[in-house]
Amino acid sequence: MKLQELDLPYLPMEDPDFARDPYPYLERARSVHPWLAKGAFGYVVHQYKAIQDLLRQDGALQSAYGGIVDIMGAKNTPWGDWTERHLLTAQQERHLRLRNVLAPKFTPRQANENRALMRRVISELLDEWVPAETFDFEEFASYFPITVMCTMIGAPPSAIPSLRASLEALGLSASMQRDHVPALQRGFEHIDGFAQELVAARQAGTRLRPQRDLLDDLLEAVNNGGLSLRELYDLLVFLFVAGFDTSKNMLTIIMDLLLDRPEFYARCAGDYAFCRDVMEEALRYCSPATIPRITAQDVTYRGVTIPEGTGLYFPVSIAGRDPLFVPNPDKFDPGREKRASHLAFGMGMHMCLGQFIARAQIQEGLHLIAQRITSPRRAGPSSWRPFYGVWGMRGLPIAFTSAPARQQATGDATS
Ligand code: HEM
Repeated sequence: MKLQELDLPYLPMEDPDFARDPYPYLERARSVHPWLAKGAFGYVVHQYKAIQDLLRQDGALQSAYGGIVDIMGAKNTPWGDWTERHLLTAQQERHLRLRNVLAPKFTPRQANENRALMRRVISELLDEWVPAETFDFEEFASYFPITVMCTMIGAPPSAIPSLRASLEALGLSASMQRDHVPALQRGFEHIDGFAQELVAARQAGTRLRPQRDLLDDLLEAVNNGGLSLRELYDLLVFLFVAGFDTSKNMLTIIMDLLLDRPEFYARCAGDYAFCRDVMEEALRYCSPATIPRITAQDVTYRGVTIPEGTGLYFPVSIAGRDPLFVPNPDKFDPGREKRASHLAFGMGMHMCLGQFIARAQIQEGLHLIAQRITSPRRAGPSSWRPFYGVWGMRGLPIAFTSAPARQQATGDATS
């Protein structure tokens, strides 16, 4: 059957009401068609199994971030050009070459080696923030991934506040909101300039720490001819952007979930392994990404032919709520089986390279946050960011009782 002949429900993912609570919309859509809906910018594949099956077909799908530049009306602009050439947009050999440069630096082992750094960063942030006993958790959380990334590439801490402002702007890159484009341009140009200065300083022999770091590894790839300088700048900007609001939003979503589940929250303070269970269940339950793709050829799936050039959106953020994936999907249950096979980090050739870093950061962060921020409660209203792109909460004001630092756990991904 042809796609156009199907009577499909409409999923208003661009609607702020959808962003606030997508699940009733999802349930209604499911009752009309088991896996497919129409959206404002193409079709939406919402069923867990269909997302998994289709995203695995790397040859049949191309990433569609270039198309987002068109939708945003930003062709031939610095941000638009960068989006059209960055890692997620790159295809075939070019993608493989760029991914192969990064992949050896983003293994579970590398992530584990950074756990001590992550613990240090979150502890210092907690030392600074907890005495107030009230703050916006989203703002607090935003400093965590950016400080870790800056340390991993040897960037000076003084760069963090302005980088954060630019990354906040770039967080709405795929939001499909055209009025945001000027802020995207400013944000991109600032981080690009920062990347170029950092690389130039390193090439001139200036470095903050004597230890070899990620920037040394990437520069080695440039020196070996595996990467051009322009590609290095693009990768650095991309790593900041890819790791910033995904991690910050996920940690904030987890805090939001735990504010309503104080027994789980309290257990996170003493039970390091449980923090990982909470994180994996949260990634299944509600996570930030919707993946855009365009069909590179006609694709027939379960008898439906999707023509070449069709825009498809895969809301992996909410796919874990599919009742065919797990029983009782709306229950947040860190003890459940199968939770780790969620799709929060995507699937196929663009699957998140930073997933081990992200997981380590969240586990370490959650454990120490729960020790230092006790009895947290909501202290003001929150809202939700646009669902397209990187979804998450906008603001999570909390009040709490501060507690002193405890002995730190020393674990790795297997703990
Ligand atoms: C909870 C946090 C995170 C989530 C939910 C997440 C999610 C995702 C998803 C869904 C994709 C695939 C997008 C697509 O196929 O179109 C992706 C790609 C990617 N992510 Fe993450 N991410 C997170 C954190 C990070 C971090 C911390 C980094 C780096 C430090 C990172 C680096 C990357 C890279 C490099 C890619 C592109 C891979 C490629 O194109 O081959 N991510 N991420």
